[in-house]
Amino acid sequence: MAWALITGASEGLGREFARLAAEDRHDLILTARRVDLLEVVAAEMRAEHGVAVEVIPADLAQQGEAARLWQVASAGREIKVLVNNAGLGSAGAFADPEDWAREYASVMVNVVSLTVLMKEAVTAMAAGSGGRVLNVASTAAFMPGPGMAVYHATKSYVLSLSEAVAHELRGSGVTVTALCPGATRTGFFRAADVEGGTMLQRLPMPPAEVVALKGWAAMKEGRRVAVTGVQNKLFAFLPRIAPKALVLRIAAQFLRRR
Ligand SMILES: NC(=O)c1ccc[n+]([C@@H]2O[C@H](COP(=O)([O-])OP(=O)(O)OC[C@H]3O[C@@H](n4cnc5c(N)ncnc54)[C@H](OP(=O)(O)O)[C@@H]3O)[C@@H](O)[C@H]2O)c1
Repeated sequence: MAWALITGASEGLGREFARLAAEDRHDLILTARRVDLLEVVAAEMRAEHGVAVEVIPADLAQQGEAARLWQVASAGREIKVLVNNAGLGSAGAFADPEDWAREYASVMVNVVSLTVLMKEAVTAMAAGSGGRVLNVASTAAFMPGPGMAVYHATKSYVLSLSEAVAHELRGSGVTVTALCPGATRTGFFRAADVEGGTMLQRLPMPPAEVVALKGWAAMKEGRRVAVTGVQNKLFAFLPRIAPKALVLRIAAQFLRRR
């Protein structure tokens, strides 16, 4: 059976991607740091969908972990789907030294490890029988984010990389899709230490299963970019036509901690 490798599968969107992949009869390789949560998801998928599931714990903020993960995951298996979902943000001023460890981890997980896994995956898929990559970006990709500057920059990178590689690979049997959700009901804001904290979180948030389903469908259609929801389509479009100073002021307002 075709294997799907899903990062950040211990909760939130990643857990939903695991469910969707299992429903589509993929065997699963699930990764994140919290093994106990991964094992719960794995047991559920085995019981409900009868698929094979392998749990490979990895801390993708650590140098070399993404390469090790790919090596272990791909040994003797053809990975047909990679969902680069693991990600984190940090809230606060860039000049605040307290945030550095988390900002550094954001760059490692959202940018470096995502790139390593994507490089390995598309190389193997292009040399084999094709495959699909789903990179989870964000509407943060479409504008700079004062108050979450590093996070927004990492997601701009994910979108840019995904679009360029999707174009390079057209007609090859390998597709790359960037999913750009807006604020979604997951553990993300708790993890980013902004629970209850910003205007952004006062907007209505769709549940993870709705957002994941849209992303999974876009990946199966081989779409280059998927922005979920009307409100998010506006967030993606307006920064293209509005003056940058205004975009920065509005983004800063939305991201300001209360
Ligand atoms: N929720 C939102 O509002 C929103 C909006 C737009 C985009 N996104 C993006 O959606 C993706 C999924 O986030 P989510 O909303 O589902 O958040 P979440 O509930 O906080 O889940 C994040 C996942 O990433 C994993 N992760 C974090 N740090 C990691 C590390 N160092 N090594 C390995 N795995 C790590 C976590 O697993 P462990 O903690 O077990 O390692 C967890 O499974 C992220 O890329 C996020 O940027 C989220």
